[in-house]
Amino acid sequence: MHLSASCVCALLISALFCQVTDLTTVSSLYGETVAIPCKNDDFKPEDVVMTKWKYDKGEGLSGDLLVKKTNEDAKISATDEYEGRVSMAENSSLLLSAAKLSDQRTFTCMIVAASDIKEYPINLEILKVPAGLEISDKAEELEIGKLTKLGTCVAQDTNPAANITWLKNNKPLEADGKRIVINQSLDVDPATGLSTTKSTLEYSAEKEDTDAQFTCSTGSFATGELVSPAVTLTVTYSTENIALQVNSQAPVVEGDNMTLKCVADGNPAPTSFNFHLKGELVKVENADIYTIVNVSRDTTGEYKCSLTDDPSMEASKNITVSYLDINLSPSGSIVKRAGDLLNVTLQIDSSAKSKVSWTKDNAKLDKEPKFAKLAYSDSGFYECEVTMGPLSRKALFELVVEELRAVAGAPVIKKLHKQRTEDGKNQVLICEAEGSPKPAVSWSINGSLLTESPFVNGRITHKITVAPSENTTVSCTVSNEYGTDKDIIIVSPLIEDMKMDIQDDLESDQTKLVVGVVVGLLVAAVVIGLAYWVYMKKSKQGSWKTGEKEDGSSEEEKKLEEKVEENSQKAEV
Ligand SMILES: *[C@@H]1O[C@H](CO)[C@@H](O)[C@H](O)[C@H]1NC(C)=O
Ligand SMILES: *[C@@H]1O[C@H](CO)[C@@H](O)[C@H](O)[C@H]1NC(C)=O
Ligand SMILES: *[C@@H]1O[C@H](CO)[C@@H](O)[C@H](O)[C@H]1NC(C)=O
Ligand SMILES: *[C@@H]1O[C@H](CO)[C@@H](O)[C@H](O)[C@H]1NC(C)=O
Ligand SMILES: *[C@@H]1O[C@H](CO)[C@@H](O)[C@H](O)[C@H]1NC(C)=O
Ligand SMILES: *[C@@H]1O[C@H](CO)[C@@H](O)[C@H](O)[C@H]1NC(C)=O
Ligand SMILES: *[C@@H]1O[C@H](CO)[C@@H](O)[C@H](O)[C@H]1NC(C)=O
Repeated sequence: MHLSASCVCALLISALFCQVTDLTTVSSLYGETVAIPCKNDDFKPEDVVMTKWKYDKGEGLSGDLLVKKTNEDAKISATDEYEGRVSMAENSSLLLSAAKLSDQRTFTCMIVAASDIKEYPINLEILKVPAGLEISDKAEELEIGKLTKLGTCVAQDTNPAANITWLKNNKPLEADGKRIVINQSLDVDPATGLSTTKSTLEYSAEKEDTDAQFTCSTGSFATGELVSPAVTLTVTYSTENIALQVNSQAPVVEGDNMTLKCVADGNPAPTSFNFHLKGELVKVENADIYTIVNVSRDTTGEYKCSLTDDPSMEASKNITVSYLDINLSPSGSIVKRAGDLLNVTLQIDSSAKSKVSWTKDNAKLDKEPKFAKLAYSDSGFYECEVTMGPLSRKALFELVVEELRAVAGAPVIKKLHKQRTEDGKNQVLICEAEGSPKPAVSWSINGSLLTESPFVNGRITHKITVAPSENTTVSCTVSNEYGTDKDIIIVSPLIEDMKMDIQDDLESDQTKLVVGVVVGLLVAAVVIGLAYWVYMKKSKQGSWKTGEKEDGSSEEEKKLEEKVEENSQKAEV
């Protein structure tokens, strides 16, 4: 600093004038021992006769400190404030202990040589670094938008006086008198002359200042920058935004549980809320949710939530509960007559537009079935599916179309017969009747019902299995509002029944035999006739081998006689 100043001086002003201002300055730390060098560049040590240190007392006066002659000990002559504080080093430097601010003056080293006398003045500067920077009087929290004293930064006992700057996240804060107000004050200790700088920061926080780090700094102080430990503050603010959320899978469907959530910002965050459930007010503390179980279409409506301590902070939402009800007519299984009309109606009660699709026997139909005139081919399973978003409902009916119109009348038993079950263990009795309306069928025997056919075209077939222990006469009775019919059948125990069957089999074998004989005789007659015809034809034509012909005819006659005998034997058997 002084060097560059000297150069500028050398260029601009005379060398002599420069020399006066060109004083070397040495800096030292407060309270320590200072070595003030004697800048002797002119004499060889062996030429020096005497070295003397003195200081500038001000007002043109100087005070002696010590004198050293060659080959003698230094003689200290210091008085007042320098008494007991000075000595001389081997290299002629003046050693001054416990440096203080009043030592900031010019010390001069005078060298007397055989040939000349020279003086080397040196300025002494004493620096005092603060012990440390601390932020005190810290605010507990900062309220958004409110100018609040954040803290005071103190740089205690310094020299020179410190200039404190405040930093937020390591960026200097510029006082603007509104959001940032910095008041710095300076105290100088009259005894030591040391300065104490206090800086107070008033700050109006923003939401983003949550977790911001505030520090204070001495800036580039004589011995380097000193920065205080960082301070972070809680930034408080009241609720600015409030929203009502529905924590359910959209859409809310009948039967769901619906949870309302009130979401509000603010620091500290609000802990209690008012829920307005379609006009009904519910206060919730230490929670921000309210659940409505098993919602119905009546739950649809406007819902609100607000802060208990600030009802003007309110959010609302219109909630619609989805529902889908269908009613299909006809339903179940229905029997209709061919040519009839069948009205199919599908009533849909839903919260929104729905889509309908139809199938017949699992095959897709283009449109809703309509039956102005039923045909037998209309019979089948009809199913409709109604969908609305994720909701889906199904309904079906089975249609049986009777081919013929059954005539109303008393029932008649058309057939009553028996069978053996496939495994041969039981008897099956089958009673077939006609009549309309559907006749009731009853039996005179305890049996188990095997099947009852659908009542179609006025016909019904009833099957039971029985296992009688003796020959039993069983009756089947059919009746409806027009009358009654009854028929009987004799049922033998299974063993008897089988015996009879075997006899039947034998009888049928004999029948087959008789039929075989008759057929055989007929065939023989035809053959004889044919042979005779051929013979007659040949004899009429004349022959050159009469003997052979006669032989042949006699042979054929023989064969025929044999055949007739065979057949008559068979017939006897
Ligand atoms: C002179 O000696 C003192 C004490 O021994 C020492 O602190 C100082 O640095 C020396 N000065 C020079 C210029 O050598
Ligand atoms: C600055 O602080 C001093 C003392 O601490 C006080 O007297 C003065 O009013 C303050 N100035 C402002 C602008 O706050
Ligand atoms: C839900 O409510 C409906 C009537 O709204 C009721 O029929 C049903 O049983 C309820 N379900 C449950 C699980 O409580
Ligand atoms: C809810 O519906 C009502 C009436 O239709 C309407 O006045 C209100 O603004 C709606 N609220 C919201 C949040 O959409
Ligand atoms: C069937 O619908 C038609 C027209 O919608 C109506 O006139 C008729 O009465 C209905 N028939 C039955 C049996 O419901
Ligand atoms: C049918 O069985 C019941 C008891 O099993 C009996 O009381 C009844 O007399 C029996 N009827 C006939 C017709 O065998
Ligand atoms: C059952 O009836 C058959 C004829 O249908 C007869 O041959 C048989 O002897 C009878 N059995 C009894 C035990 O009456």
